[in-house]
Amino acid sequence: MPLIEFREVTKSFRSGDATITAIDGVSLSIERGEIFGIIGYSGAGKSTLVRLVNALEKVTSGAILIDGVDITQLPEPKLRGVRAGIGMIFQQFNLFRSRTVFGNIAYPLKVAGWPKEKRKERVAELLAFVGLTEKAWVYPDQLSGGQKQRVGIARALATNPAILLADESTSALDPETTADVLALLKRVNRELGVTIVVITHEMEVVRSIADRVAVLDAGRVIESGSVFELFSDPQTVTAQRFVGTVLRNQPEADDLERLRGKHSGRIVSARIHDDGRLGAVLSDAVGRHNVRFEIVFGGISALQGRSFGSLTLELIGEDAGVDALIADLRAVTEVEEVAA
Ligand SMILES: Nc1ncnc2c1ncn2[C@@H]1O[C@H](COP(=O)(O)OP(=O)(O)OP(=O)(O)O)[C@@H](O)[C@H]1O
Ligand SMILES: [Mg+2]
Repeated sequence: MPLIEFREVTKSFRSGDATITAIDGVSLSIERGEIFGIIGYSGAGKSTLVRLVNALEKVTSGAILIDGVDITQLPEPKLRGVRAGIGMIFQQFNLFRSRTVFGNIAYPLKVAGWPKEKRKERVAELLAFVGLTEKAWVYPDQLSGGQKQRVGIARALATNPAILLADESTSALDPETTADVLALLKRVNRELGVTIVVITHEMEVVRSIADRVAVLDAGRVIESGSVFELFSDPQTVTAQRFVGTVLRNQPEADDLERLRGKHSGRIVSARIHDDGRLGAVLSDAVGRHNVRFEIVFGGISALQGRSFGSLTLELIGEDAGVDALIADLRAVTEVEEVAA
């Protein structure tokens, strides 16, 4: 059973005479123990989606099951129990400025009625986990952005939630600090077994920590699957744009123009799979077809333990030989002739 399941969920807001459909027929399943990314442009409906999960907003139609229980049918007192099992972190950290780090992390425990001694113990444990033991008695204003978010994470985890919702949790941080916070979230997932939903508009965040991802566009899931699938074979223009912000291993129009100016042979782009067959065909190119090749563009990356990428090659030889080599390449991978 999925830990979180959306079934045909729609959420509309009325604003004056107009109705805005922020979530439009979303069905999606998030499994226990995974890190699930939800990526989309501003206004796609990402924050609305997370607010539906912790029932801060009510669905217009459809069902949301958490651990098999349809929360859209629960009365308010029962929802409090559901929310207690869900932690949340935010872009702007949302810490209490007037409380120390210790006080911030202890706050949800106080609300949940933990006795003082137990609170102290738990906060000490959390501070050690996020590496902020020495900062227990300082105020948030004295912390860096990355440290503030680590306090946010410790606070969100205080009551041992099974789910952590992270809404643009690294968007206010520089790249290096982002990497630190993402590494911490990965530990939260792997060491504590917390299921994490990461909301972001940055593909790099998805690439570095998510197991699976859904692309949200105008309130709809337009694509979803493993992060590897999305990166290696994005189906929609939106997904291709997001992937393109991280990887650029296929030549664009201006690259092609430059390549055509420099190379007189035919130019093809071939997808790299991690089966080694592209390399095998290329190593036979001279022997079988009397065609030489030069690598003119490309890149290869690793993701979730598999490699993928694309190579753009100039093929130099007689036309018939080049045609035959392209046919051999097409037998093992996707090939596009980008300039003749
Ligand atoms: N309370 C509300 N009342 C009216 N419209 C709303 C409300 N909340 C969200 N919307 C609208 O729903 C749509 C989705 O908003 P949402 O905040 O979920 O987007 P988002 O993907 O989180 O965007 P961002 O990346 O900018 O945070 C937007 O058109 C927004 O204006
Ligand atoms: Mg948002």
